[in-house]
Amino acid sequence: MIYAGILAGGVGSRMGNVPLPKQFLDLDGKPIIVHTVEKFLLTSEFDKIYIATPQKWISHTRDTLRKFHITDERVEVVQGGSDRNETIMSIINVIEQDHKITDEDVIVTHDAVRPFLTRRIIKENIDNVIKYGAVDTVITATDTIITSEGGQVIDEIPVRDKMYQGQTPQSFNINLLRDSYNELSADEKKILTDACKILVVSNKKVNLVLGELYNIKITTPYDLKVANSIIKGGMIYD
Ligand code: CTP
Repeated sequence: MIYAGILAGGVGSRMGNVPLPKQFLDLDGKPIIVHTVEKFLLTSEFDKIYIATPQKWISHTRDTLRKFHITDERVEVVQGGSDRNETIMSIINVIEQDHKITDEDVIVTHDAVRPFLTRRIIKENIDNVIKYGAVDTVITATDTIITSEGGQVIDEIPVRDKMYQGQTPQSFNINLLRDSYNELSADEKKILTDACKILVVSNKKVNLVLGELYNIKITTPYDLKVANSIIKGGMIYD
């Protein structure tokens, strides 16, 4: 089975003083999360599309979907976890309960706050996760990347041609991800903010799919302005 996991379990603290977690804020007449879910609905390959939100926002999410006429039976709202990886694991636990996971099952996970992903990116994630078991979506770094331990002096300037910036979707063979995650210690789990890193630290290969510059993550009020400009500017995203 091919599952989608839309990660909306955060509260958006870097968005500042707003009345709702950022995934529910308006972007050109629709909540950000509705834009994102609509992209997934266009992909017929998904057997089920899980949206994970904080417990207290579950009914708001269901109401929002109804309000925007999202009635597709593949969509289900579930409770997220204490951090991003735990949210992915909560979705996987629901899948296990409802369907039983087989070695062929894959999940395409995506930040709810990246509304501009394309069908091409989703399709390549599905094709490649079936082939390779794990996929990250990246863009080439255009700025030089500088590393610095304390933020005072440069430690290293890695060769830019080898530098990429991570986006989502990130897609996984579910058993591969779950087994690798369960092998980590509690301390390791705490410091791993990125799901692909779970596999990288376990020496598993992660395939790369090219994202798009405009597949931005809405993190701050500035990003929300940029997102509105992307829409108003009529950028084509398909
Ligand atoms: N996310 C999640 N579960 C969590 C934390 C984050 O599903 N426990 C999701 C967010 O809802 C978001 C995505 O992961 O769609 C990317 O994370 P980020 O931008 O860091 O979101 P927040 O944690 O909400 O933001 P902040 O760090 O500013 O509070």
